[in-house]
Amino acid sequence: MALRLGDKVRGEHCRSITRPNSQAAASRRDGMEVAYTLPRAASIEDPLRLAVLISGSGSGLAALLKYQQSQTPPHRTVLVLADSLTAGGLEHGRSSGVKSVGIPLPDIIDKVERRQSHEELVEAALIESQVECIVLSGYMRILTPNFVRKWKGRLVNIHPSLLPKYPGAHAHRDALADGATISGCSVHLVDEGVDSGMILAQQEVPVLEGDTESDLQERIKKVEHELYPKIIDKLATGGFSL
Ligand code: GRF
Repeated sequence: MALRLGDKVRGEHCRSITRPNSQAAASRRDGMEVAYTLPRAASIEDPLRLAVLISGSGSGLAALLKYQQSQTPPHRTVLVLADSLTAGGLEHGRSSGVKSVGIPLPDIIDKVERRQSHEELVEAALIESQVECIVLSGYMRILTPNFVRKWKGRLVNIHPSLLPKYPGAHAHRDALADGATISGCSVHLVDEGVDSGMILAQQEVPVLEGDTESDLQERIKKVEHELYPKIIDKLATGGFSL
């Protein structure tokens, strides 16, 4: 049965959110906002071709690759792409026999041009590997609205908080500073804003007395590593509808 955003599935809250977001609002004003187009419904025999984009150690990537090797799911990682040549996670891809490339920012002084050229290189790598859906897993770059529009609905992210709480790069720090007793993680489609796209699933994780940022991060990552592959399964089989 297809799930509607807003349904609750096995303890995972699936709901959409609406909140102000300057980039998203700007693209609406431009009349440039595009709708989500979800991936095709894939199968074990014809799995969805995924690219996993990383910046760091790639523990989430490692968990997804392990899941794909042990479960025969309806998706397959065909490309691991990092925004540097040295991202530790590239090794996870290579040791699993997956094409794994680092694409650093090109040496261009103008920031706008540099960002655009970088995304063109990324796009070319995605096309070359016939990628059908992009999985962001600790990718620390904000994608431009132009890039997002091409992939909107086939571009998914995991964020270590219960969005809309604590968006951005310092979710754990913000949760601790706020005195939160519950945090968690959110799997969401990416839109033109920052951590503002449609939420597919969330799972709560307790914040414990005396937690450091790294304690909370590790506890949340354990949950992320279980949740993300399952939600990618649902996305890959037409399990969500808009
Ligand atoms: C995860 O906590 C994810 O939620 C966030 O970045 C972290 C990536 O960690 N977007 P890793 O590189 O997979 O270990």
